Amino acid sequence: MEDKLKAIAREAKICLDEASDLKKLNEIRVKYLGKKGELTKVLRGMGSLSAEERPRIGQLANSVREELEEYLERRTDELKNKELEERLSREKIDVTLPGKPCMLGKMHPLTRIQGEIEDIFTGLGFNVVEGPEIETDYYNFEALNIPKDHPARDMQDTFFTGSEVLLRTHTSPIQVRTMEAAAPRVPLKIIAPGRVYRKDDDATHSPMFHQIEGLAVDYRITFADLKGVLKVFAESMFGSETRTRFRPSYFPFTEPSAEVDISCVMCGGKGCRVCSGTGWLEVLGCGSVHPRVLEISGYDSEQYTGFAFGMGLERITMLKYGIDDLRLLFENDLRFLEQI
Ligand code: DAH
Repeated sequence: MEDKLKAIAREAKICLDEASDLKKLNEIRVKYLGKKGELTKVLRGMGSLSAEERPRIGQLANSVREELEEYLERRTDELKNKELEERLSREKIDVTLPGKPCMLGKMHPLTRIQGEIEDIFTGLGFNVVEGPEIETDYYNFEALNIPKDHPARDMQDTFFTGSEVLLRTHTSPIQVRTMEAAAPRVPLKIIAPGRVYRKDDDATHSPMFHQIEGLAVDYRITFADLKGVLKVFAESMFGSETRTRFRPSYFPFTEPSAEVDISCVMCGGKGCRVCSGTGWLEVLGCGSVHPRVLEISGYDSEQYTGFAFGMGLERITMLKYGIDDLRLLFENDLRFLEQI
């Protein structure tokens, strides 16, 4: 048995020396050291040994196993190094090859214009606030002086989740929410950008679009303040040569109310296709805050006055970049977005 063990050790080492790759080494390991390998076979025969011999042969078998394991490990390292060196001498890296270009993202045009508008108004002392897109009938209509049977509701048909809860049709409810939270503190000067929803869908209307609301409340705020602020806005947004025009209009939550036009950004006011030959483009609605809206929101209308305005972000963005179809802003086609 002793001879057998020594023979196995010798034979295995020769095989390991001759093996030329890691796969062969593994085969040899299985053959000699594996569960059903040569060494195990010999050990199975230990039962036939005498009690004196058994420990000696057992020890010998263990040291053969250890010796072979060490030998195997050394050969594994040697072969691994050899393979690595071969690969390194084969593979050449050309550091002068051009790199892969990486696509840089940029802001969506609506996000960008919203940022520009916020910059203009924060520069004038306004704070940026937000309100919920899912709104109650009370804030969206009632508190803005639009009672249940008011015809103004027809123009703002929207998506209801119940009789009193709806997707807001404009950002004006934020006027009431902000005043309620601040009353009777003044001065109050905020703008409120956000998504709004209506039952409209064509080249110039989307069921989801964005508005930016403005509100100022203080002692002695007049219509002249409103005109001044919006003139600065139009000139900052569209260029210093831009002229503004206020046309009388009607909104339930402002009195008096006006619509604001700017001189056409395409033709400068001469008249063209974009302004339908009029030289003017409508950009927003505004007015002096209705006393009833002030009162309902916690401000004494004898003491305080205010102005408000609301504009469509898509409309401003389209005018700014000369985009003629609103839907382009929501299709996320990179061929379009990359031109901006
Ligand atoms: N909320 C109005 C709309 O969506 C726009 C508007 C008009 C807002 C006049 C105002 C305002 O704050 O004073 O049609």
